[in-house]
Amino acid sequence: MAKEKIKAIYGTKDILPDDTGRWLKILSVVSQVAKTHNYGLIVNPIFEATELFARGIGETSDVVSKEMYTFSDQGGRSLTLRPEGTASVIRAYIEHSLGMGRGISKLWYAGPMFRQERPQAGRYRQFYQFGIEAIGSLEPSLDAELIGLNYEILRLLGIEDLTLEINSIGMPADRNAHREAFTKFAAPFLDNFCADCKRRFEINPLRMFDCKREKCQANLGEAPVVYEFLTDENLEHFKKVLEYLEILEIPFNVNKRLVRGLDYYTRTAWEFKSSRLGSQDSISGGGRYDLLSEQLGGPPTPGIGFAAGMERILMAMPDEVDVDMGEEMGFFLVISDEKFRPDAFKLSAFLRKLGLTADIDYQVRSMKAQMKQAGKSGFKYAVIFAEDEMKRGAIVLRNLADSSQFEIVLSDIYNIGNIEVFGEFIGKKR
Ligand code: HAM
Repeated sequence: MAKEKIKAIYGTKDILPDDTGRWLKILSVVSQVAKTHNYGLIVNPIFEATELFARGIGETSDVVSKEMYTFSDQGGRSLTLRPEGTASVIRAYIEHSLGMGRGISKLWYAGPMFRQERPQAGRYRQFYQFGIEAIGSLEPSLDAELIGLNYEILRLLGIEDLTLEINSIGMPADRNAHREAFTKFAAPFLDNFCADCKRRFEINPLRMFDCKREKCQANLGEAPVVYEFLTDENLEHFKKVLEYLEILEIPFNVNKRLVRGLDYYTRTAWEFKSSRLGSQDSISGGGRYDLLSEQLGGPPTPGIGFAAGMERILMAMPDEVDVDMGEEMGFFLVISDEKFRPDAFKLSAFLRKLGLTADIDYQVRSMKAQMKQAGKSGFKYAVIFAEDEMKRGAIVLRNLADSSQFEIVLSDIYNIGNIEVFGEFIGKKR
């Protein structure tokens, strides 16, 4: 009896080769842009002490209170699969004294994150983020640098229909002042809010602004917002950030009701949304976390950063974005007879050393089947090892798009030692 198939876990997603060209494009754009802005790569473990997230992200956030994958290891320690990257970056920053004598630390990362949310399009239980963090400065132009980086990466990936929502959620003193006014406002009709919001009202009313339920959002209509309670210093900081965004010519909407889902945020907070996404329309989000280092036992150190969901970027990215994977010059080697396999095998190795994409059939199939495979796999050219031409030591290079073809003596390819022979043909026939 055939065995039952094993399926991927609910809420996880395989990224298949049809998409991974664009996936690699995302990573290459991020690493390129990070490099031009002087950010270095950091690679953290994907599990950490549960305490790190409880203290860093905050017990009142949805992420910590209901979405973490937490387990005990053999030694009885409570560990958690990271739900986001910032807490680990700051933990490593403190642990390795990355700030010592280096001015600000500029870091980027990419990898899987885990949240036990209700899965839907664009929302998974294991998803991938890339993120960028700058630790050690409160300067408002740095906020604009990070937002600019976020914008530039998304633009380079071909995502045009972006809106930037930005707000300042102040510091604890601003929030305490707001809390008093907000409590007075919401208390009389608290029953109209959902059970989650009632809980939020008790422990952290600001979280109520993050509720996704339409009814709760409608109830908040005229509610006082933290923005109205910012100290002069924090308001001034925010205005300077906006001035720098204008220098970068990045359009923005100030959304005074924007709060972020994690508790570590202070002052500047932002989200980029794309109309190409469905209900999960936030493509990236970030902000300042000027108290996080202290919360994690480190020295007082301001910080700022953002992260973007890679599956959501794939959904918003146009198909035609150049993936630059060598497909332009892809060669599928086709043999009319098995006796030519060694010649084809040798040429495939040679082309690959030149940085060209080349592949060969390993299923011992008819020439017709090999040609079909070449077209189906998206190769631009077939290199045919056929009886007559091989008598003259030559192969046939066929453009699969227009079927034009050209004979090339194999020894010419090897002697010249570069792609000029192919290049000339490709140049002529394009
Ligand atoms: P976040 O807003 O929780 O922020 O997540 C950032 C992005 O990750 C979201 O905009 C979304 O694209 C993606 N994302 C979040 N949850 C899911 C999910 N369940 N499925 C698919 N994609 C998802 C953070 O994580 C902060 N660490 C960002 C940050 C860095 N703030 C400062 N530095």
